[in-house]
Amino acid sequence: MDTSVSNEDFLATVAEKSNGAALRGDYAHMDAHYVVQQDWAAYTEAEHDLWRKLYQRQMALLPGRACDEFIEALAKMDISAGIPVFEKTSKELFAATGWTIVAVPGLIPELTFFDHLANRRFPVTVWLRKPEEFNYIVEPDVFHDFFGHVPLLFNPVFADYMQRYGQGGLKAMRLGGLDELARLYWYTVEFGLINTPAGIRIYGAGILSSGGEVEYCLTPGTKSRHIRLDIERCLRTLYKIDSYQETYFVIDSYQQLFDGTAPDFTPIYQKLKSMDVLPANTLLADEIELLPAL
Ligand code: PHE
Ligand code: CO
Repeated sequence: MDTSVSNEDFLATVAEKSNGAALRGDYAHMDAHYVVQQDWAAYTEAEHDLWRKLYQRQMALLPGRACDEFIEALAKMDISAGIPVFEKTSKELFAATGWTIVAVPGLIPELTFFDHLANRRFPVTVWLRKPEEFNYIVEPDVFHDFFGHVPLLFNPVFADYMQRYGQGGLKAMRLGGLDELARLYWYTVEFGLINTPAGIRIYGAGILSSGGEVEYCLTPGTKSRHIRLDIERCLRTLYKIDSYQETYFVIDSYQQLFDGTAPDFTPIYQKLKSMDVLPANTLLADEIELLPAL
């Protein structure tokens, strides 16, 4: 998303992308923050059934692969029966970490997105993918946003990191560091892995909601790199949007994310301007691959 565009231009882009077909999101009934009503009663039984199938497919894959924080929070959320009522989980989440869930029509402008995060509100898309998108969907839907992202927001440290990321986004917009900062979101919040005593586990929502990448990302000997997260290195690294990731950054703890993003990034953005970006799948001389071929 380009953040320099006006709301009108943003909506025009969304309409264009929809290729003339009906808009998936209803951008006509939102407030100034792109927040809409979920209108839970409007979901069809076929949609609830598709949710259950998506849920069951992921649950068969996640034990021993997803991090404990995700598995435990998900179990408590109790969202296996159908598309969840946002309000219910939102109340539970607020009690746990002070975050709330807000319903949005789909993609929203970056400024709006950062503003939500900075205020501990997580935007969740209201619509569900179509059955033919069971294995792959190009834009986030309610299954990705809710199933993938919400459970980790019950973890206090990760929840604090997400708020700080929103604040950092607002600052990066002023400093011209958006491309760099977006890479950090991608490689942590969406595709992050974490080291645990039991082995490497998944915490990134983009993997957790994906049918194929859950297994792929933990398979030794693929062409993808698994390397320890270094924030500056991550900010320089390009990512793949239409295939499995070629680089996974592995953290040791959520505290590492929180502490690593505490410093002022102004000098980092400055420094990176004069450095080349790194293609995904780069391995630097001093880096160790954490999942090499067996
Ligand atoms: N601390 C960073 C800054 O001063 C902002 C930031 C927060 C970046 C969280 C990433 C994640 O710019
Ligand atoms: Co996401």
